[in-house]
Amino acid sequence: MRAVTARRYGGPRVLALETLPRPRPGPREVLIRVEAFGVTRGDARLRALDAPRGMGLPLRLALGVTRPRRVVPGREFAGTVAEVGPGVTRWTAGTPVMGITPGLTLGAAADYCVVAEGGLLVRRPDTLPVPEAAGYFFGLLTAADFLMDQARLGAHERVLVNGATGAVGAAATWLAARLGATVTALASPGNHDFARALGATETADYRAPPPPGPYDVVLDVAGTLPWRQARPLLTDTGRLGLVSAALGPQIAASLHPNRQGRRLCAGLVKETPQALARALAFHAQGYRPVITALPLDAIVEAHRLASSGHKRGNVVVLTV
Ligand SMILES: NC(=O)c1ccc[n+]([C@@H]2O[C@H](COP(=O)([O-])OP(=O)(O)OC[C@H]3O[C@@H](n4cnc5c(N)ncnc54)[C@H](OP(=O)(O)O)[C@@H]3O)[C@@H](O)[C@H]2O)c1
Repeated sequence: MRAVTARRYGGPRVLALETLPRPRPGPREVLIRVEAFGVTRGDARLRALDAPRGMGLPLRLALGVTRPRRVVPGREFAGTVAEVGPGVTRWTAGTPVMGITPGLTLGAAADYCVVAEGGLLVRRPDTLPVPEAAGYFFGLLTAADFLMDQARLGAHERVLVNGATGAVGAAATWLAARLGATVTALASPGNHDFARALGATETADYRAPPPPGPYDVVLDVAGTLPWRQARPLLTDTGRLGLVSAALGPQIAASLHPNRQGRRLCAGLVKETPQALARALAFHAQGYRPVITALPLDAIVEAHRLASSGHKRGNVVVLTV
């Protein structure tokens, strides 16, 4: 099969296309014919060992000290069940699916990948084309985790989304509006119309001080609104979601989340079958991720875009 490989850490040019043996599904595993895979900011960070400050060493230990142990990158995929391993009862060949390879096992950036039958795998709705399905989960799972589970956003609350038009921000802007909140989106001026189309009622350039609010929830997707700067923007019971904070603020947030009525929310997004099912339910309510789709031989360009910190929505790569 064709596979993207990264045999060392570095910029997008460390990626290559190679021919590798097709994986085989073991007991209770499912072989997926990958038709598209996502190239997220997370994938770009793993490729480059570009962790938020303080997390570089743990990431290196997890991925491989001198070079990546898992040479095929990629987590989010959409495709079709190609074959099932012994004991699989839930899936049959030919079923359209989408999902995520678990943890740091990676491997989705190839013609085929293997996942556990009870893992992060769901049936792909007919109304969700393959490219959108491959870019569906990264942003929306993160947005739902921070806004719904951690910040417990209520209808009629006010939300500030800092970094509102990338994968996470676009999903968060849509979701917050969908939950009945009033959204102020911080984005570069060229993306203001896009942010309004997602559901923001107010937009502002992130290079200027944000509109003063106050906000019930500030979601700092870009990592440029730490507690000290966000605090004056919050109501007395406001919550600050630190989506991309360095290790220090993450530890501070978990040790000391409550700050005189206000609260810090942080941590890695929880990826579970239940979280996937909830996210997918939003498709029936109109959610469709915004996608830039590139062919497999443009994998270096796809990673360049994902590394830029300025993409609109999601980047996916098509293998068919
Ligand atoms: N905690 C978790 O588990 C978790 C999960 C997923 C993602 N993340 C992190 O979330 C971050 C965002 O991911 P993403 O996929 O949404 O990234 P992305 O698609 O690259 O989007 C980045 C966004 O940030 C905006 N931006 C760039 N510079 C900015 C600045 N100085 N101030 C405010 N906004 C700015 C960009 O807007 P313009 O294009 O208009 O410049 C764009 O909307 C990444 O750091 C990622 O690692 C964390």
